[in-house]
Amino acid sequence: MAILLHNAILATMSDGYGLSQDAIVIDGDQIAWMGGLTDLPATYARAERHDLAGRLVTPALIDCHSHIVFAGDRAAEFEMRLNGASYEEVARAGGGILSTVSATRAASEAALLANALTRADQMIAGGVATLEIKSGYGLTVADEMKLLRVAREVGRQRPLSVRVTHLAAHAIAPEYTGRAGAYIDEVAIPSLQAAQAEGLVDAVDAFCEGIAFSPAQVERVFLAAQALGLPVKLHAEQLSDLKGAVLAARFKALSADHIEYMGVDGVAALARSGSVAVILPGAFYTLRETQIPPIAALRAAGVPMAVATDCNPGSAPMTSLTLAMNMACTLFRMTPLEALQGTTLHAARALGLHDRGQIAAGQRADLAIWHAQHPAELSYRIGATPLHTRIFGGRFDA
Ligand code: NIG
Ligand code: FE
Repeated sequence: MAILLHNAILATMSDGYGLSQDAIVIDGDQIAWMGGLTDLPATYARAERHDLAGRLVTPALIDCHSHIVFAGDRAAEFEMRLNGASYEEVARAGGGILSTVSATRAASEAALLANALTRADQMIAGGVATLEIKSGYGLTVADEMKLLRVAREVGRQRPLSVRVTHLAAHAIAPEYTGRAGAYIDEVAIPSLQAAQAEGLVDAVDAFCEGIAFSPAQVERVFLAAQALGLPVKLHAEQLSDLKGAVLAARFKALSADHIEYMGVDGVAALARSGSVAVILPGAFYTLRETQIPPIAALRAAGVPMAVATDCNPGSAPMTSLTLAMNMACTLFRMTPLEALQGTTLHAARALGLHDRGQIAAGQRADLAIWHAQHPAELSYRIGATPLHTRIFGGRFDA
């Protein structure tokens, strides 16, 4: 039976917030109709009615950048950094990503899944319905495959659309210290090919940075992705400007992510390629970074900006996407409208999805009903969980 939602404030996200007081009809897993209640088509007269008591409804949130499949934690490293060590110093001393790699390799697939599901559940409780999950803490062909399988499984076990991203080019595995090129040839590319053969990959990412891979090495991964028909994205300009965004744009990347140190050339390249700039204020906050991403230049160039948690054990141990929205506003002076576009409309584009991110007839019926009346409230509250109810594919959460 169709479902009718009425007496709600809708933020449709078409043309700004697209605020309206219309009713919505959900039929199956899609939004079938939207309009004034008095114009309800006769076919939906018997739909199951839900009075939302004036609450705000937005598209369900989309977290387009996360690393939730890992074991262990990095609280000790948090302490080291507070005692003065930098993120790069910790990484170069064998800590950082590599300490999570050891814990993750030692963990069973079942344990990794249980951990990832806990994080996914927190995201669902925060209003997320589409989540991107990256590999990148395995760094052998077998371990990367293990992480990718776990990521896929999260989407089977929960009411959540999961997009899986291959990120073997996240760090140089300890067995390959000083031999990043060999790691690309022997692990990053072969694991991508093997994972793609098993349908485990939706997109390909890499970490382009002094402590990770050079643009030339990333390019080889991107060429392999291109040969497999997979879209790419990139951790670019997080700690320095290696021109990763320019490279990503050349490959028509879905997105360039982090980009604190990106220059005007990167902004222009993203504007030309139509790639999304993914803003990750949680990592900026945790690392006590001071270089702010070029928000004003991105805005002026019309580059769509998404906002994501980057949930990971090192630089962003956070699962709250509304907290990331708050940080994007407070730390980067994004507007609450940009923050919400960044977790709906533009986040969908960062994943190459066009069937979600707005409230409109024909879109997937993924909706969030909030304890709020105005969308700016979602960015304004700090650390709150303002979700009232979530609807995933036309079904209310139990
Ligand atoms: O997006 N920059 C690289 N990758 C993660 C950090 C991963 C980690 O520290 O474990 C990020 O910030
Ligand atoms: Fe990341």
